Amino acid sequence: MGDQQMRSERINGLNEHLSGIKELIWKSLEARKFAYCPYSKFRVGAALLTHDGTVFTGCNVENACFCLGICAEKTAISKAVSHGYRDFKAIAIASDMCEQFVSPCGGCRQFMREFGANWDVYLSKPDGSYVEMTVEELLPASFGPEDLKMKKVNIRNEV
Ligand code: THU
Repeated sequence: MGDQQMRSERINGLNEHLSGIKELIWKSLEARKFAYCPYSKFRVGAALLTHDGTVFTGCNVENACFCLGICAEKTAISKAVSHGYRDFKAIAIASDMCEQFVSPCGGCRQFMREFGANWDVYLSKPDGSYVEMTVEELLPASFGPEDLKMKKVNIRNEV
């Protein structure tokens, strides 16, 4: 394979990657339209890309008992897990904020982290612009399932 061909294949790969991101963000923007948020009036959408290319979307679902509301990211992840998916490549998040990229709440960061720290999170604006971060960047020095398996002092007689 010549230099020229290698370069054009790399560019094609990059273009495909970028259009994949754009599509995921578009799906999160669409999912945002289903948000049930009569109390906060703050719509959030999420689109979660799994290892085999399947996308699960989600929106926030609020409740008259405020503390029972569920975030868009949690909805999307729960949908995926309940369909047998646990291996995620990326999640796009959308809101209506036009001057700021939406940022996932602490609980959602931990919810994402359950399924690994090294996958991508796209924080978007309604115009489709975005910032790319990893779960690790959003939640550094995190606590995860691996920690539960770490060597512990003996507490046999204390619990
Ligand atoms: N919300 C999300 O759906 N995801 C987040 O990461 C931040 C907050 C929702 C929860 C609530 O319905 C509304 O936004 C306002 O907090």
